[in-house]
Amino acid sequence: MKAKIAALGGDGIGPEVVAQAVRVLEATARLFDHEFTITPLDFGGVAIDAHGDGLPPHTLRGCLESDGVLLGAIGGPKWGPTAPVRPEPALLRLRSELGVYANLRPVKVLGALRDASVLKPEIVEGVDLLFVRELTGGIYFGRKQRSDDRATDECAYTVAEVERITRVAGRLASARRRRIVQIDKSNVLETSRLWREVSERVIKTEFPGVSIEHMFVDAAAMHLIRRPRDFDVLLTENLFGDILTDEAAMLAGSLGVLPSASLGEGRRGLYEPIHGSAPDIAGRGIANPCGTILSAALLLRHSLGLEAEAAAIEAAVEAAIAAGARTADIAATGGASVGTIAMGDAVLAQLRRR
Ligand code: IPM
Ligand code: MG
Repeated sequence: MKAKIAALGGDGIGPEVVAQAVRVLEATARLFDHEFTITPLDFGGVAIDAHGDGLPPHTLRGCLESDGVLLGAIGGPKWGPTAPVRPEPALLRLRSELGVYANLRPVKVLGALRDASVLKPEIVEGVDLLFVRELTGGIYFGRKQRSDDRATDECAYTVAEVERITRVAGRLASARRRRIVQIDKSNVLETSRLWREVSERVIKTEFPGVSIEHMFVDAAAMHLIRRPRDFDVLLTENLFGDILTDEAAMLAGSLGVLPSASLGEGRRGLYEPIHGSAPDIAGRGIANPCGTILSAALLLRHSLGLEAEAAAIEAAVEAAIAAGARTADIAATGGASVGTIAMGDAVLAQLRRR
């Protein structure tokens, strides 16, 4: 098949990890006889420096014209909280313009990385959970106000916004272990009470085979590291999802191995590793490209419908890690580690072997 893919390296380690994912996409196209046109586009801090805008019009256009968008990471000390123009609003605008309200963050503990987690292997072994994070609403997008002695961030959700994201969770749960835990702070927040009512109704009436349980976010934060295997699908709002997915990443040993997919109504999606731009290690060639490579696999699966290709990439990453190729973040204590490009090489070698 023919497909257009936009590649947004972004800042920090972003371009380094995206370069490896692009190599994997190109190899996949050759192996499976597809034609992918992969277009690099400026985005984030680098775009602010070059064009004065984190999401320049030509980048937005390129993304809207593509079948899928692969993104590295954005941000860095150069564009910190006090900078006149910051890259984060560009990411929020991109998510919103693409209409990708459903952010899927799977957390699966690879057998070979059982010992890489800071948690005990017997706690993380067999963990396989899926976060469904609402991505285009809530406090991230509410009105922000600032005066000399006061600041406000408004958090709002509509019934329709909660219904559509709950349906995504319902569909995904139906294909998994059919258990949703919806996470909120409904003992305090009005928006959370809306989430609880609406998600309960949608699942009960539209997904009779799926169970839904509700949990306060503080308790969920605890149970996630105490008994992570008990979770299947976790459904939550934008801010709680942001925080809990960083926490859950620690189950898998490293933020570096986790992908994400952000989807809307059409097939086009935005795919990014869940880690940030890691300015501290940028340019050193040691970043882990696996989260981005696995995000590219999700792009093939969700936006292009290429299941076999996606599965082949996922198997290649797993095999490369199992065969001992580890970047520093997932290396065994005292064990050797490889750089970003060598990690990409190892995945490519496994892919070609299939
Ligand atoms: C994430 C990131 C972003 C978010 C930032 C960079 C705006 O932390 O994708 O998790 O909070 O959504
Ligand atoms: Mg985050």
